[in-house]
Amino acid sequence: MATQLGAQSVFGRDKLIRRMWKHLERGSLRFTAERRIGKTTVMKKMAAEPPDGFEVVFLDVEGVDRPSASSSTCSIG
Ligand SMILES: Nc1ncnc2c1ncn2[C@@H]1O[C@H](COP(=O)(O)OP(=O)(O)OP(=O)(O)O)[C@@H](O)[C@H]1O
Ligand SMILES: [Mg+2]
Repeated sequence: MATQLGAQSVFGRDKLIRRMWKHLERGSLRFTAERRIGKTTVMKKMAAEPPDGFEVVFLDVEGVDRPSASSSTCSIG
């Protein structure tokens, strides 16, 4: 993963982020796009500035390449 910007340095994306939080009020969402388009940047900004009522847990599974590693990476607590 590239070095990530601080939330204040992220250009734009506010409308997208509002839409994503709105979706998350009702359930889950899948966020896909081409490489290097800014997906992680958007998620980091969301994690840094969640609306009231949300608690963000950020799990980086980019390096996970098999199911057994995935379950230990994703276990919380
Ligand atoms: N909104 C933005 N404002 C400023 N810089 C940005 C923005 N979005 C992305 N960047 C920059 O573009 C680069 C790629 O962004 P990022 O790592 O978030 O992309 P990604 O979609 O997660 O990539 P990958 O598919 O490789 O995981 C980074 O250097 C990041 O700092
Ligand atoms: Mg990424």
